[in-house]
Amino acid sequence: MTMQIPVHVWLPGQVDAVRAGDFVHEPNQRSGRFLYAQSYLDARHPPLAPDMPLRAKPILVTGGLAIFPLFMDAGPDAWGRHLLARRQERDISEIEALTLCPTDGVGNIALGELTPERLRVVSINEFLSIVEEVGAGETATTLVEEQVLDAVRNGTSLGGTKPKLTLSRAGVQYLAKFPEPGDNPWLPHIECAMLKLAAACGLRVSRAEVWRLPGGKRTALLVERFDRRTLVTGVTRLGYVSAHAVLRLDLMPPSPAETLQFGTLGYTASGLRKSYVSLAAAMARWCGGQALHREERRELWRRIVFNALIRNLDDHTKNHGLLCDDMATQRWRLAPAFDLVPGANAGEQAALAMAYRFVPPQRKGRQSSASRLVTRISQVDLLAAAVEHYGYAEQEATDYLRDITAQVSEKWRRFMVEEGMPQEEIERQARAFMIAL
Ligand SMILES: Nc1ncnc2c1ncn2[C@@H]1O[C@H](COP(=O)(O)OP(=O)(O)OP(=O)(O)O)[C@@H](O)[C@H]1O
Ligand SMILES: [Mg+2]
Repeated sequence: MTMQIPVHVWLPGQVDAVRAGDFVHEPNQRSGRFLYAQSYLDARHPPLAPDMPLRAKPILVTGGLAIFPLFMDAGPDAWGRHLLARRQERDISEIEALTLCPTDGVGNIALGELTPERLRVVSINEFLSIVEEVGAGETATTLVEEQVLDAVRNGTSLGGTKPKLTLSRAGVQYLAKFPEPGDNPWLPHIECAMLKLAAACGLRVSRAEVWRLPGGKRTALLVERFDRRTLVTGVTRLGYVSAHAVLRLDLMPPSPAETLQFGTLGYTASGLRKSYVSLAAAMARWCGGQALHREERRELWRRIVFNALIRNLDDHTKNHGLLCDDMATQRWRLAPAFDLVPGANAGEQAALAMAYRFVPPQRKGRQSSASRLVTRISQVDLLAAAVEHYGYAEQEATDYLRDITAQVSEKWRRFMVEEGMPQEEIERQARAFMIAL
């Protein structure tokens, strides 16, 4: 069934979205096309992304679900889809989800009609009164109430698997993350401490705090949204694209042949596609010039190092992304780091979720070795990768690694103490920080 869907964008400095064009989705033909609206072109507004240049002809997308990866980022993941399906009492397709979901997805794009209900952002005070009313026996009648309830019970268009919600306080929008039933109840404190540690180590990170809900022991993590800006007139949004979308992973699932061919060599084409190495290269198209691309590749390596040092092994392609710094010139840089959780159960052989080094086939005399992708955390590989892929000189990388290793091991406990974690819980996290690189 062909669907024609309006695509809206929040332009820099504007609190209301404008229609950028239409997305025509033809699932039966496994294709989609986006056409900029003539009014958008006439107004000389900027392009949505480097791979969606301004022009009067349609831009095509094929493969996978045939939806532009940038649009997918605006929609919900498992968590938000579950809520939508429950409310509609039927399965919801990916494209429907994009047109029905609340518009609090990451970035500056929203598909479908913009109704007040979809646009609504709940304030912290409203949140608390909904929780109280519904808790007193009334049932949730609106999507907002359901989301609030689901969030607090251990619901949103924001990606990820954990219950979360966008909340506003004094005009500023936050992402509220709630621990799930089976989670460590100290998770908000732990994640908050890691975000502050990352900032102390010089990484770009959003402001975060642990939020204690009134009445009980329940807490949530509040992180300032990096893709929202509060203006006098309201809130505007910045473009965001996940590493998953930059790498177009949903459009190009690896073929079984590729997997078979390379699998035996300890190297898979899909592993390379979803690697830090590919991300570092693919960022060239988004950074709007060599100088920024160089800076951002270096920042990417520093993030790899930080993830390695705290054993954050859940560093998948939706846990990295680029934020649009300047839409007119299409300058995108790494968004502030998020979802930093230490791997308290990490073993000696811990590996990151994405490969950070690619070693091409080597020939030594008559011996030859196959290509190799490195995910396992090792000082030697981190240093080699810094030089091979991320624009570092060897000495500089060595000095950085030594310095940052010392900072992490010296400071991590203090940040957990400052969040009010008890000593024994802090010691349970120690394993993530004990094993030297
Ligand atoms: N500070 C922020 N501002 C705006 N968007 C954010 C922020 N932090 C995270 N996001 C977006 O929300 C999504 C979910 O956040 P996060 O990764 O922290 O949740 P999660 O449920 O723990 O994810 P996972 O499934 O990886 O465990 C991210 O993928 C990102 O797109
Ligand atoms: Mg995540």
